[in-house]
Amino acid sequence: MLSRKVSTIAIDGPAASGKTTLARRLAARLGYFYFDTGVMYRAVTLFALRRAVPVEDERSVTAVAEELIIDVRPPSVEDGRLYDVLVNGEDVTWDIRSHKVDTHVSLVSSYAGVRQALTLRQRQIGARGDVVMVGRDIGTVVMPEADLKIYLDASAEERARRRFQEAVGRGNSPEFEDVLGSMKERDHFDSTRSLAPLKPADDAVLIETTGLTLDEVLARAVALAQESQP
Ligand code: DC
Repeated sequence: MLSRKVSTIAIDGPAASGKTTLARRLAARLGYFYFDTGVMYRAVTLFALRRAVPVEDERSVTAVAEELIIDVRPPSVEDGRLYDVLVNGEDVTWDIRSHKVDTHVSLVSSYAGVRQALTLRQRQIGARGDVVMVGRDIGTVVMPEADLKIYLDASAEERARRRFQEAVGRGNSPEFEDVLGSMKERDHFDSTRSLAPLKPADDAVLIETTGLTLDEVLARAVALAQESQP
């Protein structure tokens, strides 16, 4: 009997839970498009900052989100990128990774109008199919009909350790306690916001990654993709 293959895979979880790395590798394994939805919130934040729109001004930031034409596509340049992020045709793939954007993106992503505008666009991109979508609310809000939903988690200490090691690898020397503190702060903000809070969908498969290697998590996800029937 022929079975239809899994076409849309949703991966959610908190910062540094390993979802980005897992999604990237899972997408590469399946030959699917890796779609990191966080880049859209980053793009809106970048343009609000560039235009000197105060990020606390919900109405103005929402107007920016509604007006921008954002697309995320397979990479067109070989500079280590995993996708192109285009805003009104401009390539902002690297600009959205600035520290300033990091600092303000959580607030921007808490605005209802911003989420509405971006959710709509994410659904359109997801509807192209053969996609691994990563975010905080993919299984619950953006693609509740996804063929497979995975929710990754790990303890705050473990996740802070990963972020700390990444920073050290880049030549920075942060205090571990600071990294842990800001991780907990962001978790709290993302999971208690009233709109699309970070939480697993009822039918998501939970993978607790503390103590697991990336290869072990990947093997589990590949098996789930093979077992799941749309
Ligand atoms: O994964 P990231 O750090 O690039 O995400 C940036 C911000 O966007 C983060 O504060 C959470 C938010 N986000 C969200 O609210 N919903 C998504 N689907 C993706 C990201």
